[in-house]
Amino acid sequence: MPHDTIYDDPRRPVPPFTFDDRVATVFDDMIQRSVPLYGEIIQRQAQLIRRFHQEQSRIYDLGCSTGNLGVAACRVMADTPFRMIAVDNSAAMLKVYDERRQHLPGGERIELVNADVARFRVEDAGIVVINFTLQFLSLADRDRVVDRVYKGLRPGGVLLFSEKIVHADDAFSDLQQDFYYGFKRENGYSDLAIAQKREALENVLIPETVADHLKRVSGAGFKRLDIWLKWFNFCSWICQK
Ligand SMILES: C[S@@+](CC[C@H](N)C(=O)[O-])C[C@H]1O[C@@H](n2cnc3c(N)ncnc32)[C@H](O)[C@@H]1O
Repeated sequence: MPHDTIYDDPRRPVPPFTFDDRVATVFDDMIQRSVPLYGEIIQRQAQLIRRFHQEQSRIYDLGCSTGNLGVAACRVMADTPFRMIAVDNSAAMLKVYDERRQHLPGGERIELVNADVARFRVEDAGIVVINFTLQFLSLADRDRVVDRVYKGLRPGGVLLFSEKIVHADDAFSDLQQDFYYGFKRENGYSDLAIAQKREALENVLIPETVADHLKRVSGAGFKRLDIWLKWFNFCSWICQK
């Protein structure tokens, strides 16, 4: 797995973060060292997919990146037929995913689509996963995506989503940031790399509070909601139609 050194050397100015070729090449290392409990999230979501899968329905992975969820789903659902539609608007990320898929047992069950999730129609879905992607959309597009997901899910269908979040209370927000930067340092990121990545993500990744997210999903119509995992400023939800 190529090592992420993108922000290790000083840069002036620090350009806004994009999911380009350079990021795609090191993405798996970057996300594992930057998202607490990332492996746990993907593994449990794959098991939730197996649990809630409805026969002949579609599984969507919106903002699929390089396909970690698809890989886990193929492993966990080795003997179960399913169809996953994996969507991302970064050609660079999808190229890495496509190369992985060639060697993935059962990878032909996954269809890759290069599209903007805010303009993408979800149809006849049993499960929709949106991991760490709403945070890159405008607030209006977040509403639009969650509304479309609700409409496109079958009754009993499930939305699984994860986000970096912010706390409404400034002191708790600072506490979360402190622990988060500590986590990144423990994973080998220098103070310079942490500061430069933070600058690159400013105005690109806009986190919301847990309350904001719950308001959006309940406003879309979801009645059964739970936070199944939370680590300081990271949160994963399950919502059932
Ligand atoms: C942090 S990554 C998501 C990680 C991935 N879901 C996972 O669990 O490994 C965010 C992804 O969302 C994609 N993305 C951002 N905005 C998008 C949009 N409007 N439409 C489609 N994909 C988008 C990016 O290209 C990137 O691959």
